Order: sequence, then C-alpha cells, then structure tokens
Amino acid sequence: MPFFEIIYVESLQNATSLVVNNLEEELNSGKLNSLGLATGSTMIPIYASIVKSNLDFSQVIAFNLDEYVGLASSNKNSFAYFMNEHLFSKKHFKEINIQNGLSEDKQLECERYEKKLDEHPIDIQFLGVGENGHIAFNEPGTPFDTLTHVATLSDSTIEVNSQYFDEKENMPTQAFTMGIASIMKAKKIILLAFGEKKRDAINALLGDNITEQWPITVLKKHPHVTLITNIKQ
Ligand code: GLP
Repeated sequence: MPFFEIIYVESLQNATSLVVNNLEEELNSGKLNSLGLATGSTMIPIYASIVKSNLDFSQVIAFNLDEYVGLASSNKNSFAYFMNEHLFSKKHFKEINIQNGLSEDKQLECERYEKKLDEHPIDIQFLGVGENGHIAFNEPGTPFDTLTHVATLSDSTIEVNSQYFDEKENMPTQAFTMGIASIMKAKKIILLAFGEKKRDAINALLGDNITEQWPITVLKKHPHVTLITNIKQ
C-alpha cells in the first residue's frame, strides 16, 4: 500500500517546524544521505527555519530540481543564486548539485546529472507545485517517463515566474529540469502547496485521475508522499 499523508496546517509558517522535525528524525536515523531541494517562494520560510536550526547536513549530498538555461550561478535570477542566498551559504552540505545553466552541451549535462542522481539516490525530495500542476519544470503534457532534460516553459509558467525578473523579456524560456521519472525515483517526497492559486493543482492531485496534463497527479503512483498544505477540500 502506498503511503499518502496529508497534513493540513494554517499557514506556511506552521509547516516549517514540521519539516525541521522531520529532517531531524531522518538525520538521526542515519537514513538521510541525499536530499532533493526545490526553489520558489514556498521554500523560503522552510530554508529560513532550517538555517536557524542546528540540523547538520555536512554528510548530506544536495540535489536541486532545476535551473534556467543560459543563466550563470552569479545571476540573481538563477536557482543556484537563490539556493546560495537562502541555504547553501548558511548551511554546509557535503556536496551541492545543480544543473549548470551555462553548459554548452545540454544533452551531456542532462546525462551527467541523471547519472549523479543514480549514484546517490534521493532519500527525501522537496517539491512545490506550479499553478498549472507542474513539478520542477515538468510542464503539462510532459511524458511521465522523462529523465533530466531541457524543458520549454509554458506561457503560464513564464507569466508567473517573470515577476522575479527586472524585465519580463530577460526570463529564459527553457530550463534544465529533473524529469518526472527522476523525481519518482526519490524514496520519499514532501510536497508543499500553499494558497488558493494552487487549489486546482491540489484538486487534480486528490482527484481520481492520473494524467500527463496535470504532472502533479503522477505522485499518486509514488510509494511515499507527504502533502503539507493549507488548502482544505
Ligand atoms: C518554479 C519551480 C518549481 C516550484 C514552483 C512553485 O516554477 N520550478 O519547482 O514548485 O516554482 O513556486 P512557488 O513556491 O513560488 O509558488
């Protein structure tokens, strides 16, 4: 029987201690060697709480879900920059993995990343969700068997994420992303979804169908998912 747990909390802030406690248990049990991390505004208070905690990640390898094609890690809109600002400059990890946005050979970069993931299978993967149900940058219509690849971003994602760019035109239209099959290899998934804008995606997840039109619905096939949300059904 798959494990699918829903934890309702009043606010994202209330989720932070849950996450920190969970990570503490996993670290203490020695079962957390490889941790999958996400970007997005949802993760900011989570990382702030981790930074304040005394959790020790010095033996943990970190993997990020995705990175914009064409952005250097020094670019403030890159996910490498985001991770450095919110977590990696403040907590020491054994190793940090993010796709290189400037890779000349994109295919090779995807293969390298997937191989690395296979060498260090993810024990816990954090996930957010896009308003259109995307996970990482796997947009609606992405086949469930995709591994790490270069995704073309949907109009909806460009609309939502371009708010973080000084000029909308500066937002890349492509991104490296772990594929749906890469994400599904993680042993446990912690999905965080907050706010009304995510209601359609959560309704799809909690509904009857599993469809590539709502990438998040693939999680119904995963053996161990914890959804932390303030969206009541
Ligand atoms: C981006 C990331 C996703 C993330 C989503 C949600 O599109 N690629 O991994 O889940 O943003 O972001 P937010 O938490 O800001 O709603």
